[in-house]
Amino acid sequence: MGLDRKLAARASQQEGHVTDLNRRLVLAERPLGMVDERTVRIEETAVPTPGPGEALARVRYLSIDPTIRTWMDDAPGYLPPIAIGEVIRSGGIAEVIHSDSDRYTPGELLFGMTGWQDYVIANEAFQSLPAGISPTVALGLFGITGMTAYFGLTDVGRVKEGDVVVVSGAAGATGSTVGQIAKLKGAGKVVGIAGGPQKCAWVVEELGFDAAIDYKAGDLPARLRQACPDGIDLYFDNVGGEILDACLAQLAMRGRVVLCGAIASYNDRGELRGPANYRSLIIRRGRMQGFIILDYLDRFPQAQAEMAGWLASGQIKSAEHIVDGLEHSPDALNLLFTGGNTGKVIVRV
Ligand SMILES: NC(=O)c1ccc[n+]([C@@H]2O[C@H](COP(=O)([O-])OP(=O)(O)OC[C@H]3O[C@@H](n4cnc5c(N)ncnc54)[C@H](OP(=O)(O)O)[C@@H]3O)[C@@H](O)[C@H]2O)c1
Repeated sequence: MGLDRKLAARASQQEGHVTDLNRRLVLAERPLGMVDERTVRIEETAVPTPGPGEALARVRYLSIDPTIRTWMDDAPGYLPPIAIGEVIRSGGIAEVIHSDSDRYTPGELLFGMTGWQDYVIANEAFQSLPAGISPTVALGLFGITGMTAYFGLTDVGRVKEGDVVVVSGAAGATGSTVGQIAKLKGAGKVVGIAGGPQKCAWVVEELGFDAAIDYKAGDLPARLRQACPDGIDLYFDNVGGEILDACLAQLAMRGRVVLCGAIASYNDRGELRGPANYRSLIIRRGRMQGFIILDYLDRFPQAQAEMAGWLASGQIKSAEHIVDGLEHSPDALNLLFTGGNTGKVIVRV
């Protein structure tokens, strides 16, 4: 599109009209590993027209989550797979451009399932952002990953004072929040597991974790024994695979394992291997429980209120990794699998 047309489209949007096209990224083929331009295709369509009670909104930010990769597989999940030709499903923040309904005011920012595209029709499933919260914090600490950290730790993991807490994916969106909340809830020791010395130094020096283990440096079981000599009371698992096995082996009596994610296997079409050390749960009278954050939607306000207090008092830090441009959304998703991100990955459309 020529610059003149872009400027005209922008001017027109500002007046509440839209003459632009809608760029959308659709699933062209099911990926075998990382996504690329063969598996996710960009196309241009007409800007959708809102129906009664709906609004047209311009997508501003996208929440890039590992689960998007799982939705691209034709496999059973907690939501149906994305169909071939369908827009990539994704949470995001969109600005109301045009509305015939009293419910939406032009300029207002809404959170909802926007998909990887420029425009979306906002309906009652979209929600206003919490007051005074920036869009990127709304997607991170106050969004799915922050809420996952909060409820995974408090409700599923039942964190308590003095606990030795270990979290994998510690420098990522969920893990970095888990470690900080664990400290705020009185955990005795918080140990992060992350890839590389920089990430390990960051969670200790910037986020206040007590220790960090670089799983890429080898012999994770021995390092865990050293860091948690009396065992792990609560392991928050974002990764699965060998890291889950190593933590199970070091579980304390009545230890709890929160199964949050299994990112080590999302890009893998091979046969899934279960944990080898599950007998630890029997011997140590442990408990392992999975969860999906969508079951906690009605309790988000309670967690967001507590999060707002911690944020205002500087007790919790929001870490964001911003990628510019809708067309770079596939690269942003791949960052989660190469470990190229620190904190919450967000695309600024
Ligand atoms: N249950 C739920 O409702 C729910 C909701 C949200 C998220 N989740 C899960 O939570 C986990 C974290 O999600 P997020 O959005 O916060 O992503 P993230 O942690 O910001 O990014 C993913 C991180 O995983 C690590 N990783 C990737 N492949 C790995 C491997 N093979 N072995 C070890 N580490 C690996 C990378 O860090 P390193 O550089 O350290 O390797 C990467 O930075 C994911 O498993 C996700 O599916 C679950």
